[in-house]
Amino acid sequence: MAKIGKAAAKERIDFLKKELERQNYNYYVLNQPAITDFEFDLLMGELQGLEKLYPEFATEDSPTRHVGSDLSGAGSDFVQVPHRYPMLSLGNTYAREELYEFDNRIRKAVSTPYSFSCELKFDGTAICLTYRDGRLLRALTRGDGTKGDDVTRNVVNIPAIPRQLHGEGIPEEFEIRGEIYMPYAAFDRLNAARTEAELEPFANPRNAASGSLKLQNPAEMRTRGLDCVLYHLLGENLPFKTHIEALEAARSWGLPISEYSRHAGTIEEAVAYIDEWDTRRKTLPFATDGIVIKVNELELQRQLGFTAKSPRWATAWKFKPEQALTPLLSIDYQVGRTGAVTPVANLEPVQLSGTVVKRASLHNKDQMDLLDIHIGDYVYVEKGGEIIPKITGVELSKRPADARRPEFPACCPDCGTPLVRDEDEARHYCPNRESCPVQIKGRFIHFAGRKAMDILAGEATIEALYNKGYIHTLPDLYTLTREQLVSLDGWQDKSADNFLASLQASRSVPFERVLYALGIRHIGEQTAKMLARHFGSIDALAAASREELLQIEDIGEIVADSILAYFASEAGRDTVRRLREAGLQMAVSEDAQQRLSDTLAGKTVVISGNFSISREAMKGLIEAHGGKNAGSVSGKTAWLLAGEKAGPEKLRKAEKLGIPVIDEAQFYQIIGKE
Ligand code: IVH
Repeated sequence: MAKIGKAAAKERIDFLKKELERQNYNYYVLNQPAITDFEFDLLMGELQGLEKLYPEFATEDSPTRHVGSDLSGAGSDFVQVPHRYPMLSLGNTYAREELYEFDNRIRKAVSTPYSFSCELKFDGTAICLTYRDGRLLRALTRGDGTKGDDVTRNVVNIPAIPRQLHGEGIPEEFEIRGEIYMPYAAFDRLNAARTEAELEPFANPRNAASGSLKLQNPAEMRTRGLDCVLYHLLGENLPFKTHIEALEAARSWGLPISEYSRHAGTIEEAVAYIDEWDTRRKTLPFATDGIVIKVNELELQRQLGFTAKSPRWATAWKFKPEQALTPLLSIDYQVGRTGAVTPVANLEPVQLSGTVVKRASLHNKDQMDLLDIHIGDYVYVEKGGEIIPKITGVELSKRPADARRPEFPACCPDCGTPLVRDEDEARHYCPNRESCPVQIKGRFIHFAGRKAMDILAGEATIEALYNKGYIHTLPDLYTLTREQLVSLDGWQDKSADNFLASLQASRSVPFERVLYALGIRHIGEQTAKMLARHFGSIDALAAASREELLQIEDIGEIVADSILAYFASEAGRDTVRRLREAGLQMAVSEDAQQRLSDTLAGKTVVISGNFSISREAMKGLIEAHGGKNAGSVSGKTAWLLAGEKAGPEKLRKAEKLGIPVIDEAQFYQIIGKE
């Protein structure tokens, strides 16, 4: 690093500290990183370098000396619990030589032979599990490294994490740390649903995982498809000599341990592992952002110890994200069914991770301003496991003289109505809900969709019906006549019959799907389901006050206001009235009301003792969530639900058969009831 003057160094250090804290906050608390990991690591590296040159400016509170904090702010109801052992981060490197330096430092510090454990660096969010007497006691996030958020009630909903361990030599109490992550498939599903509901999609699987882990609603969290892998066992007087041996034992107790790790005798072997996984990782169904190399011998780990922020016995090799550099040709402004305008970049086609990329999302105007993007610029595109590649930067050195700043449209590209921007949202909207053609057609396409009313009408049919002037508002669909249908290009009796039959069938589509089909802004499939269950009918929902809505978990102000606006509008009320007249389900049917969820489907629960509700009510609850209640514990029992004064006979039998025993609170966590 070039030596710079003292005053300039001080100024730069102050800037870097502030900037890194700000980015830590974006990343860990908001789950919305504004820069790439690579850029973050560059800034961090620069700060480390300057602090080395000018130790007088290296303060205790520098981001180089503490980990970024994920602690939830005020308003969260997660309890903060101190970590028994601090939860640290890892030193990282993108340079080969530094791996050899890591090896040299170890060789100098220890006097006995050593070897390495090479592991994938899972790109998720760190978790610390405590097991006592073989049962999961607590799950904490990393937090600020010294204390974390207690997310136990959410973690019990992750199938990979066992609540009860089985096997030999399980220590009375131990901690095991690892990563909660979201596989690509679950991530794509979640973002598709969020985009549908016009919610901001998560930037990458890591943010989706940590956002999901912090959800206040365990039932919602269960639908997110999170997975877990564990890689660090800690405790007092554990009998293991090596890290790998400890993890093998943990695996034998039923804990999820990576199958991709490898023992390496030398740093060269570790480097070979890195080279191998640099390509192989692209075939994995989940995101990795590097390789972790750890000294395998636990005694040597103890000798090497820690710096303020990370262990000296481990380091992380970070993969550089795959990028391509290509010119930006133009920007399209697409209007969605709820009027949201999304800028989409048209690029000079370019190869990236095996596919040709032509288009990339620019999200919103803020993002465009942040990048200071110009038409004609060379832009960096990246794929981080997402379906749609994104633009992460602009190569200013290649900016052509005639590059021009794009003009974000002031009016709707489809109907010409001036766009508006909601205060809390980064998006621009066309407010002309009633007569903007794209929005109208978009509403019909959404309404007819498979997850909504499942009506046999694709984009082309909707387009044709709209152009003929047959449909304008949703209920018009139910007034269509056979004559009108056969008048469409290429339609015959048969297609008209099929269409009318699907319309008829849609009259028995359950209320939760009708609610989703209405296309109320921000009401996705999950939210619709939840609201349907909570209110039971459209009338009850329409009558709900803002306060009532806000009391529901995971309903924030934006969603509440959107519901209120819908039912306050003439158009909204009219749509509901006419759809009701057409015979659609506007309330939860009795059957569905009794069935609250399928969480316990295929599971048998035995209950014993007294609960805060009657035993009959408890049995009802088990059945309402799809489970079966049985009188005695057997090999088929999923859980023994033990209340106060539970029968000792049943408890003994459960213990003998290794059936998990849960209390009332844990049961409620499982079924997602408060
Ligand atoms: S070991 C004392 N092993 O990467 C440090 N960490 O950038 C213990 N991570 O905080 C961490 N995969 O959240 C370790 N195989 C692995 C890992 C891993 C992912 C995460 C972890 C850590 C972060 C550091």
